[in-house]
Amino acid sequence: MPQAVTTVIDPERCNGCGRCIRVCPSQTLSLVGGKAVVTGDSSLNCGHCQAVCPEGAVRVGSLDPEQTSFATFELDETWLPHGGYDLPGLVRLMASRRSCRNFRREPVPREMLADLVKIGLSAPSGTNSQRWSFTVLPSREKVLELAQGVGRVMAEFNRMSEKAWLRKLMRLVGKPQLDEYFHEYHDSVSRGLAEWEEKGIDRLMHGAAAAIMIGSRPGASTPKEDALLAAGHMLLAAHAMGLGTCLIGFAVAVMDQKPEVGRAFGVGPDEKIHAVISLGWPKEEYVRLTGRRAPALRWCD
Ligand SMILES: Cc1cc2nc3c(=O)[nH]c(=O)nc-3n(C[C@H](O)[C@H](O)[C@H](O)COP(=O)(O)O)c2cc1C
Ligand code: SF4
Repeated sequence: MPQAVTTVIDPERCNGCGRCIRVCPSQTLSLVGGKAVVTGDSSLNCGHCQAVCPEGAVRVGSLDPEQTSFATFELDETWLPHGGYDLPGLVRLMASRRSCRNFRREPVPREMLADLVKIGLSAPSGTNSQRWSFTVLPSREKVLELAQGVGRVMAEFNRMSEKAWLRKLMRLVGKPQLDEYFHEYHDSVSRGLAEWEEKGIDRLMHGAAAAIMIGSRPGASTPKEDALLAAGHMLLAAHAMGLGTCLIGFAVAVMDQKPEVGRAFGVGPDEKIHAVISLGWPKEEYVRLTGRRAPALRWCD
């Protein structure tokens, strides 16, 4: 979706070097009379021009400086050059982040949750649409409400999938999902629901003290990808903050089928949830990194 131009250039400061024009992906700027000026009628509003200008002559009005101001740490806002970061440290952080399924009950301070959302915003988004939505459940009580909403739907799925005639009928009309659900999930969901009822064990959200749902609003060109990229940034940052996280695909799948589960938390009728992150203070500590399975990898020389 084309966005209106919000770039303003201070001609007094501009030295005419042309860098902002070279990095602009939407051909919004041109050099006129030795100065950068806005000549295009749309912009990605990505801020590359502002980031590259050596004179501080560019300001992209739609960018909100508040979103790079954090409550729990101070950010050095100078740009880190390519190759300018501690690669082994970064890879160690990435490999140390593991899904946490055992949380302590202490609440996560609100400022940490707010900072995590801001960190998610540094992710790329298709055509820079940034049409994310973040729904923060800051307390165990709210996480439980979500777990109960999701649990009710899963119990309903289970009951439906137990009807062999219905599974067969759905298959015949080209909808094999119910049958697939039955074979893949019915038994584990059934066990999970029973453990919840009988012992209060939370197999869905793993006892998390908070959760963040990441959705998209209309106008995103790649809604799911944007949400999952933001989630990826947040998972790594959460580990650096001392928090454990786990993506909860079951909750996403339920809200895909029954959006009203999300609506109970204010998710708008035109929004869609793509990621649910359960988070909190981890109970378990690990001692080493492990590898992954070898991927399908090909080199096309
Ligand atoms: C899209 C997605 C959905 C997931 N859903 C769940 C889930 O519902 N419950 C859960 O315990 N883990 C879930 N996980 C976590 C994966 O099981 C986990 O990432 C994987 O086993 C690798 O382990 P690691 O995250 O500790 O490295 C999900 C992961 C992804 C990427
Ligand atoms: S990068 Fe800055 S100084 Fe260079 S042309 Fe653009 S506005 Fe002018």
